[in-house]
Parts: sequence; structure tokens; C-alpha cells
Amino acid sequence: MVQDKQEFNIRETISDNKLLSLWKLMSGYRRIYFIATISLGFAAAFRSGTYLILGRFVDALVARDDISRYIPWIAISFFVLASLQGVFTYISGRLAAKTSEGITRRLRNFLFNHIQRLSFSYHDKTKTGELIQRATSDVDAVRLFFADRAIGMGRILLLFLVNLGVLLSLNVRLALLSIIVVPLTVGLSLIFFKRISKAYEDYQVQEAVLSNALQENLTGVRVVKAFARQDFEEKKFDKENQEKYAKGKKFFTMHALFWPFSDILTGAQMVFGYYLGATMTINGEISLGTYLAYAGMIIWIIWPIRNLGRLIVQMSTGLVSYGRILEVIKEQREPLSFGEYIPQTDEVNGSFVFDQVSFAYEDHPIVLNKISFSCQPGQLIALLGGPGSGKSTLMNLLPRFYDYTSGFLTLDGVDLKSYPRSFLRNHIGVVEQEPFLFSRSIKENITYGVNRQVSDEEVFEASRAAAIHEVILSFTQGYDTLVGEKGVTLSGGQKQRVAIARTLLKNPKILILDDATSSVDVETEANIHQALDRLMKGRTTFIIAHRIQSLMQADLILVLDNGKIIQQGIHKDLIKQPGKYKEIFDIQTKIDTALQQELDLSK
Ligand SMILES: Nc1ncnc2c1ncn2[C@@H]1O[C@H](COP(=O)(O)OP(=O)(O)OP(=O)(O)O)[C@@H](O)[C@H]1O
Ligand SMILES: [Mg+2]
Repeated sequence: MVQDKQEFNIRETISDNKLLSLWKLMSGYRRIYFIATISLGFAAAFRSGTYLILGRFVDALVARDDISRYIPWIAISFFVLASLQGVFTYISGRLAAKTSEGITRRLRNFLFNHIQRLSFSYHDKTKTGELIQRATSDVDAVRLFFADRAIGMGRILLLFLVNLGVLLSLNVRLALLSIIVVPLTVGLSLIFFKRISKAYEDYQVQEAVLSNALQENLTGVRVVKAFARQDFEEKKFDKENQEKYAKGKKFFTMHALFWPFSDILTGAQMVFGYYLGATMTINGEISLGTYLAYAGMIIWIIWPIRNLGRLIVQMSTGLVSYGRILEVIKEQREPLSFGEYIPQTDEVNGSFVFDQVSFAYEDHPIVLNKISFSCQPGQLIALLGGPGSGKSTLMNLLPRFYDYTSGFLTLDGVDLKSYPRSFLRNHIGVVEQEPFLFSRSIKENITYGVNRQVSDEEVFEASRAAAIHEVILSFTQGYDTLVGEKGVTLSGGQKQRVAIARTLLKNPKILILDDATSSVDVETEANIHQALDRLMKGRTTFIIAHRIQSLMQADLILVLDNGKIIQQGIHKDLIKQPGKYKEIFDIQTKIDTALQQELDLSK
């Protein structure tokens, strides 16, 4: 078994010529594949051998020799040749499967790893269905290329040569006249190759559209149902499906069209061969036995010619699919370990200085506009601002999910871009605005971010801090409860708290809580904040929240509007200034007072 000791770098096999690229992809498997091809050729040669024996047998019969002498030998030869053919067919099938499965395993692994290492910007602009399509259907087309097409091509060439050799040994003129159709067949298949490649590519593109539609529909099934839009979705899907049907029809019609043309050519060649052979026999140029052997053999020279065309045409799918895979592979990975600066202690303190930092998402207008502020290690920085004001975007810059476009941003006095991304991500814990949990047990979800053995007590402590410990214990399987598809469906607030526990367990020096308590009630939020107060000690914490209550204690409050910081300071200063902060504070205080009064009245 060929094992890829280190990850086989498929990026190094990229070449403008896809065949060359595939050849490089075969590295480590070439010898096996070659043996597979040769074996298939041997198997074919042994089959031809049986026809030769047949020819000799008939000649002897016609000459009224004492054939009883031959019969045992003929029988034995037949048996031996047939067995050899079987053995070599088996060897070849096994080795070809090993090659094709091995290469596609390599390709699939690489693709999976590659896709998860592509940048955030790449994933922003690429649809999930599209990537799934390339990692499955296209990879399978490449598998088929090796399992069937390429080896078939080798076999056919071998077969052709062997059978041509046999034919030449029978009669040179007859043999040469039996293959005059070859250039025509090759020409015809090359014409079809181009057209079928194009048709297949369109078909794959449309299939990706469909997988995307399906994927989106499944992800958004709740929205579809809630808005009772099944009919609308059905029509939309059907439209795309109809399109795929049309593309598929075109692709297969193209194939279907190739056959009659190819069959006319090869059929004509065969009839011509039979005619020629018969004439030569009548004229006494060849013996009857030779003619019979030839008549048996001709199909075995026509067969490779016919299949040569078929394979040239069929190879188009593998090549097109490989091209589609290469498009993904060509994308640059996010360089995780690239960056020259790592502090000697391997630790960070957590002081940030933003100096006129601006940022725009690729091909989009500016989202952060000259942001300037600074914070000390261990401080709590709160961000406040309307939807779309740029809070999450600002936080995305810290672990280098995206790199800022202009200005200057330092961590502990060093340019943030000098730190390797992996280093930053090890030291910065983020609780995302819409946390994602895997369909695994709660415990596995909580321990996801730590790359070491953790004790149950550590897990419990993180959960307690996130005010989720008791909830988890109330499930029948406790921490082993499966989340998602096959297990419990957690509520929005529970999910958020599991995500907080996950980040806390990681024990990062810098903590980002992006609206992490938006889905929990005021009381739970207060509980979490109490626990966090303790946990936030010694960490620089960024918190995005909408309730002033939860950010009053902050050492620095940033008020964002439309990508700009419009106010910054501490609570007691900010409420004295006229401005957005005071407006929000006044509104929230009013609501709180009204609520309190109502509660008092109802008592
Ligand atoms: N991946 C992205 N690609 C392009 N534009 C984006 C991307 N993410 C966000 N934006 C845009 O950037 C702007 C700021 O978005 P951001 O998510 O930072 O807002 P926010 O302040 O976190 O809002 P909210 O309070 O709703 O979470 C928005 O106009 C949004 O459309
Ligand atoms: Mg946000």
C-alpha cells in the first residue's frame, strides 16, 4: 500500500497540461499502474493466442491430418491460455483498483484539508454546494479516469499492437489494410472530445447549482416551512433541475451521436476485412485456416480501434473534472504559520493599539474607517453600535481572520501582521455571534478548542462559568448528550453558553465575546457576567453587547456608527456627554424603570 508519509502536495503537480498534471498526481503509483496495464495487455494477448490455436486446428482438420494426435494438446493449450488470461485479468483489476482508489483517497484528503485552510474571504464568496460537488462528483470522475479510462487506453494500445503483430504474422498486406480506419477514428473522436468536454463541464456546473440549492434548502428548512414557501422553492428547484436535464440530455446525446459515426467507420472496416480475406483465400493467397483465424481475429483489432475512440471521448470527463478540482487547489491557503514574530515567552500580554485602522472586505466598500483607540493588558473593552456598524468586523481583525487594509495595528507593541495567524488564534478566544456546534457530544464540543487531555472538573468549571452546567446535567446523558441532528436540539441561549464554555476552557489571554449573551435572559446574563468577572481577570476582554447594564464596568467603551468610532470613554464620562451613548442609556433606563414600576405594582 502506498502511504503518503507527509501530505502529498498536489499543488506541486499543477500544470497547464492536465494530462501532465495527472501523471504527476500518480507519483508512487506509476509502477503498479504500469504493471496493471501490462497485465491487461497479457490477458488480451492470451485471448488472441486461443484464436491462433483455433486457426491451426482448422488447418489440420482441412488437411485431414490425424487430428486425434492434436486434440489433447489443443485442449491443454486452450486451458492454459484461458487460465493465464484469467490470472492476468485479475492482477490487472486489482492493481488498477489500488491505483485509482489510492489516488482518489489522496486527492480527497488533500482537497478536504485544502478547503478548510482557505481564507475567510474565499469561503465568503464560494458556495458550499459548489465545494461539495467538486470534492465528491468531480473526484469520482477522476477515479473513473484511473479505474477505467487510462488503463483502458493502455490496454487498448497494447492489444492493438499485439493483435496487429498476430495479424502481421498471418499476412502483412491483410493486416495493414485492416487498420486504415485508425486515423479517421482518432480524428472523429478528437472532434467529439472537444464538444463533449464542453457539454460535460456545463453539466457539472449545473449539478453544482443543484447541490447548492439542495444544501441551502436543507439548511434553511425552518425558514421555508415558517413562510410556507415550499411551492416557491419547489418551482425554483425544478427550474434548475430542468436546466440540468437539458444539459444532461445534450451531454448524453453527444455520446450517443458518437457511436453511430464510430460504428459506421469500424463496421465498414470489418466488412472490408472479411471481403479482402475471402478474396485472398479464393485466390489462394492465404489458407482457409489463416482466413478463419483472421476472421476470428479481426474483431480483436476492430475492438481496440472502436474503444480507442470511446476512451478518447470518455477521458474528457476525467480531465474536465480534474480541471475543476485544480481550480480549488490553485487557491492560496491562508498561511497559518507564516509570520516572523513570536514572543520569546510564547505568551501575549494583550495590549492593543489601533492607529487609523481601516478595512474593506474584498471588492466591497469600506467597513471600518480610521479606527483609533488603545487598551492595556487585562482591560475590558466594550463595543456598542447599531446593526452593521462594524463591531464584528473590528473583532475579526484581531485573530487575523481578515487583515486590515490601512493604518497601523499593534499587539504588545508589535505589528499584528508580524504574528503568525496560528499563534494569534491560540491566544485569542472568540465566542462567535452565531456559534456553531458540531453534531458530537456536548463534552466533545466544549473540549474542541483544547489540544490536550482535560479533566472533567475543568470542563465542569468552564460550564459553570457559562451558566450551563446545571442544564447539561439535567439531560439524561449529561455531558455525553449528542448535540444536533441525532441528539438534542439546544436552544439559542444554550448553544451560546456551550460556546462560551468552549472558549473559556481554552483559557485564552484575549477574549472576544461577540454578542455572546444576546439569546439569554437578563438573569442568566447577569450570572454569566458575574462568573466572567472572575474569569476576565488578567485577560484583555472585548465584549459586544446591546444592554448598557452589561458594559457599564468596561475600562473603555467604543461607540461605533457606520464603521467609525463616534464616542469613546468610560461610562461615567459618556453619560455626561450628549450623544448616542447617552441616548441609548436614557432609553434603556426608561424601559427598566417602567418595567420595575410595573413589577412593583403587580406585587
Ligand atoms: N464577509 C463579509 N463580506 C462582505 N461584507 C461583509 C461581510 N461581513 C460583514 N459585511 C458588511 O460589513 C458591515 C459591518 O458588518 P458587521 O458584521 O461588522 O456589523 P456588526 O456591527 O457586527 O452588526 P450586528 O450588530 O448586526 O452584528 C455590514 O455592512 C456588512 O454588510
Ligand atoms: Mg456582529
